[in-house]
Amino acid sequence: MKINRVGIVGCGTMGSGITQVCAQSGYSVTVSEVSEDLLKKGLAAINSNLSRAVEKQRITAADRDVTLARIRGTTSFNDFKDCDLVIEAAIEQLEPKNKIFAELDKICPRHAILASNTSGLPIIDMAMATGRPEKVLGLHFFNPAPVMKLLEVVRTIATSDETLATAREFGQSIGKTVVIARDTPGFIVNRLMLPELLNAVRMLEAGVATREDIDNAVVLGLNHPMGPLALADLVGLDVVLSLAQTLYNDLKDPQFTPPVLLLRMVSAGWLGRKKGKGFYEYK
Ligand code: CAA
Repeated sequence: MKINRVGIVGCGTMGSGITQVCAQSGYSVTVSEVSEDLLKKGLAAINSNLSRAVEKQRITAADRDVTLARIRGTTSFNDFKDCDLVIEAAIEQLEPKNKIFAELDKICPRHAILASNTSGLPIIDMAMATGRPEKVLGLHFFNPAPVMKLLEVVRTIATSDETLATAREFGQSIGKTVVIARDTPGFIVNRLMLPELLNAVRMLEAGVATREDIDNAVVLGLNHPMGPLALADLVGLDVVLSLAQTLYNDLKDPQFTPPVLLLRMVSAGWLGRKKGKGFYEYK
């Protein structure tokens, strides 16, 4: 199936990054937010990212303008009616996601593929909220989406081979390396990443080392681009907590038990970079 127009639900950190990647790869993109204010903020983030790339001479001003012209912002799901693929990147909770999928199913053309960018929630639940479970799968991007090269394509027990093949081709067409994972908690990456992040929080809690020393140890001793506490701040501590809860609930594996410090920081609203404070402070 040929994909011409891509829809993105949500223009936050992930939604705006995915919108940028798709538009830069030549797709026409419709992106929605729940309010004009949030939409404006998301579109401004894309504009500023692209303008920084122009300043760094990675793209020309004309490239930026052509990319921006491919993006249509909206606050109405009705504007997804001409999309061939819609990627949901909304709040990381199952109930709202199920509702979004039910609504998209009513509006999108019958041939359209509906995908979720969830970090680890069961995609089969979203699929069963639609009348087209064979056309539903996970397209899991990594933060920052314009930079990270991986795309996890997540197949449920109901996803058809044809949908999977189209999704793989789409992922390659936007310059990502595709890996295929089953619809299991945390898929591949988060099931591996989460124990490291949670253990770093436990080590900080236990006074094993300072935040800087834990992060430096991982950056310089394991050659990771950033330490686990800085990475948790980038991902968002609310997202890390919700992932830990999903993986613990589904697998009952104690390594996914959320540390108390993480629970308290989320209660305090110290959610990481997006709130200016997490394990570190941000301007
Ligand atoms: N959007 C677009 N581009 C961005 C960006 C953003 N938010 N942040 C950084 N970049 C670009 C910069 O413009 C820069 O581009 P150039 O090379 O063209 O100059 C490049 O990335 C490098 O950025 P910086 O020089 O500012 O900083 P850096 O070298 O420290 O890299 C980083 C920043 C790319 C974030 C790097 O530290 C990194 O790769 N960190 C690990 C990120 C990671 O592991 N992400 C996965 C999180 S898990 C997840 O997302 C899954 C989930 O479900 C929770």
